Amino acid sequence: MEGDGIGPEIVAAALPVLEAAAASDGARLEWRRLDAGTRAYAHTGSSVPPDVLEACRGVRAMLKGPAGLPGVRHADGTEAGTVAGPLRKAFTLFANVRPVRRVPGVPAIAPDGTDYVIVRENTEGAYATRDAGEVTGDGVEDRIRITREGTARVARLAFELARRRAAARAASPPGSGGAARVTCCDKANVLRSFAFFRRVTGEVAERYPDVAFDAVYADAAAAAIVDQSRRFDVLLAENLIGDILSDVAAATIGGLGFCPAANLGEGHGLFEPVHGSAPDIAGTDRANPTAMILAGAMMLEWLGLPAAAERVRRAVDRAVATGALGLQPDGRAASTRGAGRAVLEALA
Ligand code: NAI
Ligand code: MG
Repeated sequence: MEGDGIGPEIVAAALPVLEAAAASDGARLEWRRLDAGTRAYAHTGSSVPPDVLEACRGVRAMLKGPAGLPGVRHADGTEAGTVAGPLRKAFTLFANVRPVRRVPGVPAIAPDGTDYVIVRENTEGAYATRDAGEVTGDGVEDRIRITREGTARVARLAFELARRRAAARAASPPGSGGAARVTCCDKANVLRSFAFFRRVTGEVAERYPDVAFDAVYADAAAAAIVDQSRRFDVLLAENLIGDILSDVAAATIGGLGFCPAANLGEGHGLFEPVHGSAPDIAGTDRANPTAMILAGAMMLEWLGLPAAAERVRRAVDRAVATGALGLQPDGRAASTRGAGRAVLEALA
């Protein structure tokens, strides 16, 4: 799903990279191109029409460019071109996984070597009553919903991820090691819902004795993300807290242009850049395709091709380090196509 605005350009830059990386692992990627977003909305009245949903049901991984345009709206003022929301709901993509990795050489406030992951619960928490809060003339009441199963399943995913990351570190050159850790970010000091989130996460932790577990209040976590991010490995958070913390984290590693995201469920994975469709630069060949390419690397990992994923990440690093990526001081690329080619060459 190419999406809107710069979507088609950055997807076009990313696909050859992913195909080449998969091929070097002896795998072939088979794509189905689906129309979702504002074009689909214009044609069918729905940004994710039923046939697109049906087609997605039959695949293991969905790759999407940013979707939506500020000018395409429903009568109530909300945007009509969103794609990730409906897919999250349809396939219960309960975990939003956002790696926070500093690409060496990118101007950023986070130190070199910054590499942790934020896992955000994606279906409940403070967004549970989205569109359904109680509205009166005098006020609005939204609720925070934390369930045992909703928390346990995302916590299990966080602990499994910490385990895999530690194993990968152990297999790479010495010095890059470090024990597996999950840190629960909440406001357990104030709200019972968050105390419950922390308790259930702690119960899951008991089943992972090889993974260290600690907890930190979300406000302190926001500060630590800025000046002590080295203490994090996998950071687990409720929906609203994770939403906010992940954008803070993105800013510390050079901005949204380097931030991919995965929305994961039991059977399906949806991979996308964190940034939007950037209509202000659409069609100008100035979009930085890095986040899109890194989202593709997450997809390769999900498809069982971790070596190919790692090669993509290293190729991005090399293209940035040599300057071949053409990153401009304003965060744009000298050329989207050129940046894609640079990563492809670095991969070769
Ligand atoms: P945006 O991320 O599209 O743009 C914010 C600023 O960052 C703009 O100046 C833009 O030019 C720049 N930018 C974003 N990505 C870039 C890239 N790859 N390379 C260079 N510069 C880049 O956020 P905005 O303006 O709030 O939203 C625009 C549209 O995107 C809206 O319709 C919004 O709903 C949609 N959107 C979609 C998302 C998704 O599909 N997951 C996520 C966020 C927004
Ligand atoms: Mg957000």
